[in-house]
Amino acid sequence: MRKVVLAYSGGLDTSCCISWLKNKGFKVICFSANLGSEFSPADLRKRAVKSGADKVYIKDLKKEFAYDYILSALCANAVYEGKYVLSTALGRPLIAKHLVEVAKKEKAGFVAHGCTAKGNDQVRLELSIKILSPGLKIIAPLREWDLTSRESEIEYAKNNKIPIKTNKNKIYSIDQNIWGVSVEGGSLEDLDKEPALNSYVFVKPLGMSINKEVYVDIEFIKGVPCKINGRKMDLVSIIEKLNKLGAQCGVGRTDLIEDRVIGIKSREVYEAPAAWILHTAHRELESLTLDKETLALKELISLKYAQLVYQGLWFSGLRESLDAFVNKTQDRVTGVIGFKMYKGNVIIVKRDSSYALYNKKFATYGDNDKFDRSLSRGFIKLFGMPYR
Ligand code: ARG
Repeated sequence: MRKVVLAYSGGLDTSCCISWLKNKGFKVICFSANLGSEFSPADLRKRAVKSGADKVYIKDLKKEFAYDYILSALCANAVYEGKYVLSTALGRPLIAKHLVEVAKKEKAGFVAHGCTAKGNDQVRLELSIKILSPGLKIIAPLREWDLTSRESEIEYAKNNKIPIKTNKNKIYSIDQNIWGVSVEGGSLEDLDKEPALNSYVFVKPLGMSINKEVYVDIEFIKGVPCKINGRKMDLVSIIEKLNKLGAQCGVGRTDLIEDRVIGIKSREVYEAPAAWILHTAHRELESLTLDKETLALKELISLKYAQLVYQGLWFSGLRESLDAFVNKTQDRVTGVIGFKMYKGNVIIVKRDSSYALYNKKFATYGDNDKFDRSLSRGFIKLFGMPYR
């Protein structure tokens, strides 16, 4: 019997995929990566089996996700089109990597995924799979079957007794991991409408967010966040903690018209409190500790890095080379950044680093100024000479 390993999320699409693949005569092995989704592993396993899976693998990959994927993107300041911290995009290559491992272990000739023909995730998963295991055959049921809307999938699920949580009035497509939540579809497709309250997943709408300023300190060592308010924590716990703190202050929601890889513009709403907090604090520490030329080049690298991740080219040589550059720049990114959160804002209130390039003796407008003012006239003369 032909074996297929399906990247299973527990959502509507992949649940329908199980029964569709079974009907095509496949033995279906589900693989779920736990990157911090809404479903518990026990729940996932139950749903997969109920939907017809022959075997289920669930791996907790939060730590690998945090240290090998999220951290690289954080140090690279990778944000797509100014508003997307790439939470879904960063998870795909990791899922592909383990999907390929399970297929090898199971000696399966096929892998399958539940991505749509219009989205980025098909590109990311398939590029990664092709790079890591060129011989594997890839099946994408959503590009083949005739269930063309989420409504028709819900009908199909009901007819095939597939357990689903979605219903017709809450029709958003949601992808969630520790780095963020992506929400699309439903009323978000109407650009003249503010996102409805039922599109909020875990971040508090501003009107319901807490009414006081919340102060937090984050310590970084060589670009790696390692303490919150002086307490040492691993990266997964730091992200989970900041998600909680940020969410109650309404921090981290963005609403973006984004350019998909295949050329469609779409609207997506994201919730990523921890990611925004860490990006804000990390960039602040870089502005204190890196020289201006490195900062300027790093901005270009960030843009490229974000595009690369968005386009599914994680396993490319270029990404590795960019990482080598970014890693070197993190040598001095050590110190503490303090900020306060209030009604969706993250406001920096403290900067401290033994590598700070800020020197009050030079910068001050007060007494004890060590700056030699007589040098400026000559400097400007030389600096302006070519233009004169
Ligand atoms: N647009 C985002 C991306 O390309 C998220 C895709 C998945 N979104 C979703 N709502 N299921 O990374």
